[in-house]
Amino acid sequence: MTSTDTDPALKLLYRDFAAEHLNPLWTQRGDLMPMTPSPKAVPFVWKWSTLYPLAQRAGELVPVGRGGERRAIALANPGLGGVPYASPTLWAAIQYLGPRETAPEHRHSQNAFRFVVEGEGVWTVVNGDPVAMRRGDFLLTPGWHFHGHHNETDHPMAWIDGLDIPFAHYADTGFFEFGADGVTDDSMPDVSRSERLWAHPGLRPLVGASATISSPIACYRWAHTDAALREQLALEDEGYSATTEPGHAAIRYTNPTTGGDVMPTIRAEFHRLRPGTRTATRRDVGSSVFQVFDGAATYHLGDRSHTVETGDLIVAPSWVPWSVETDSGVDLFAFSDAPIMERLHLDRTHEGA
Ligand SMILES: [Fe+2]
Repeated sequence: MTSTDTDPALKLLYRDFAAEHLNPLWTQRGDLMPMTPSPKAVPFVWKWSTLYPLAQRAGELVPVGRGGERRAIALANPGLGGVPYASPTLWAAIQYLGPRETAPEHRHSQNAFRFVVEGEGVWTVVNGDPVAMRRGDFLLTPGWHFHGHHNETDHPMAWIDGLDIPFAHYADTGFFEFGADGVTDDSMPDVSRSERLWAHPGLRPLVGASATISSPIACYRWAHTDAALREQLALEDEGYSATTEPGHAAIRYTNPTTGGDVMPTIRAEFHRLRPGTRTATRRDVGSSVFQVFDGAATYHLGDRSHTVETGDLIVAPSWVPWSVETDSGVDLFAFSDAPIMERLHLDRTHEGA
């Protein structure tokens, strides 16, 4: 092909393309249609020991209320040019609520969850149902469900939010509506109404006979997650097949009406590695975010390794090989955009280096 530098006619053609808002494929095929996914998002680690004090400072300086809605500080992947996205599809943020504060109710088409790495004393009210937040709990706020948070203690609380905000932004699918300035039910029950109806192992109420898009379980409690993982490792000790690979217990949070993922755009899982375990290297189409819930590990991400400990957040962009290694044992919360990839038949996994 003739170089634009030397052919005045071609140079003129490109100028005329630009004037008419046209852009040829042949000059950028490699970027638009790479041989394999080549994400701009980079593998990255955010340390809880850095995040939490910054959130605390925001707590002192920035009020929470109508308009801004939430004191949430998003992880901004350094490869994405400053946008508040952990990956092209996933939002991950630390949210901080001070003593006696209330984050007003609203709803949006974006799907959201909370995961609690430490603390308690906040209730999230989802469509009028107060849900207590405690360490290790995984709470859902599916799209278009009203939700607000209130802290009824004299100490602050922080947790992580995960949403499909970037996906909704790029696809222009977002709707938003303000709700009550306070919360619609400020009672503080130990267990939400949703859990009383839905969260009994293997038992489905007949009143909810039809499949729902998102899980009707508002909160998956730590006691259940912990027991499931503990039993997998105990069964492995007894010689039964129960773990995904030696020393690696894992569960996926599911929608009891379908057996599928908890929400249409987000998959959530929990992994427990015994001391001395290294997971098989894998790469997936789509991106994942992990938070260390307990313990310490080394994340091998691409050609770099990162030491992580409780609270640290890790992003693995599309098709980047990764594995986790731990000497002391580690508990990991994980979420990804896998339901989007699977529904569009774009999912692909490669195991091995
Ligand atoms: Fe929200």
